[in-house]
Amino acid sequence: MRVYSSFKDIVKLVDKTDSIGLVPTMGSLHDGHLSIIKKALIKDDMVIVSIYVNPKQFNDPVDLKKYPRNLEDDLDKLKIFNKIIVYAPNDRDVYNGKEEVKRYNFGKITEIMEGRLRPGHFDGVATIVEKLLYMFKPNNAYFGEKDFQQLLLIKELARKIKLDVNIIGCETIRERDGLAMSSRNKFLNKSERKSASQIIKLLERAKKTYNTSSPKSIKSDILKHANSIDNLKIEYFEIIDVSEFFKDKKEIRAFIACKIGNTRLIDNIRI
Ligand code: PAF
Repeated sequence: MRVYSSFKDIVKLVDKTDSIGLVPTMGSLHDGHLSIIKKALIKDDMVIVSIYVNPKQFNDPVDLKKYPRNLEDDLDKLKIFNKIIVYAPNDRDVYNGKEEVKRYNFGKITEIMEGRLRPGHFDGVATIVEKLLYMFKPNNAYFGEKDFQQLLLIKELARKIKLDVNIIGCETIRERDGLAMSSRNKFLNKSERKSASQIIKLLERAKKTYNTSSPKSIKSDILKHANSIDNLKIEYFEIIDVSEFFKDKKEIRAFIACKIGNTRLIDNIRI
């Protein structure tokens, strides 16, 4: 593993014949990230893992401040991969002192769920991802399906800016009890952690009843059940036909966002 804080130093290492894989992260790495890196290492000769907490995608300054950061721990976890290059920049290396967030128009994908509740969030995500794609010009870029709406938006971004890159979705990695791995899980206390294990149960309940109930009645059943879970406050539950956004992607997904105590968690599954 080689670690760099300057983009220019990495670009010098890129051999034109290599297939390059990019794994963008905000650090606080867990097994979900490690499984994405393993997938990239199978496909690509050179894998660049970026670790950067992008301030532009936080619509809440308190959330940005408390977002977990520990580069030393992250590098320790990445030591098992001797072939990767880590890009761990500061704000100046990424934004070069120009702090503009780009304004995009991705239509409905960014108007529902996370887009509705976190104004500006997806513009911030697209700004940093576009930058990283232009910087490293990867053949493949990898993103977790836990942030499925983000994955759709990034696919649309790559199509719009006509970059020759495959955007590859990677399956959500879960704890033994089904909780989706997330950097935010470490904020949960014992009783909140127990409540968080119910999130996947709500999604699975929706999946079970999908063929026999209407989306409306599934939604009201899920909201009712969610209400009975300690510490859990639901922000949205939605069943979405993904082909509305990508015609060739025929799948239905159930999405959930909730607060467990002060910690906001999201998850989704294919139905
Ligand atoms: O999913 C994330 O961790 C971030 O949104 C990303 C894609 C690294 C952009 O900052």
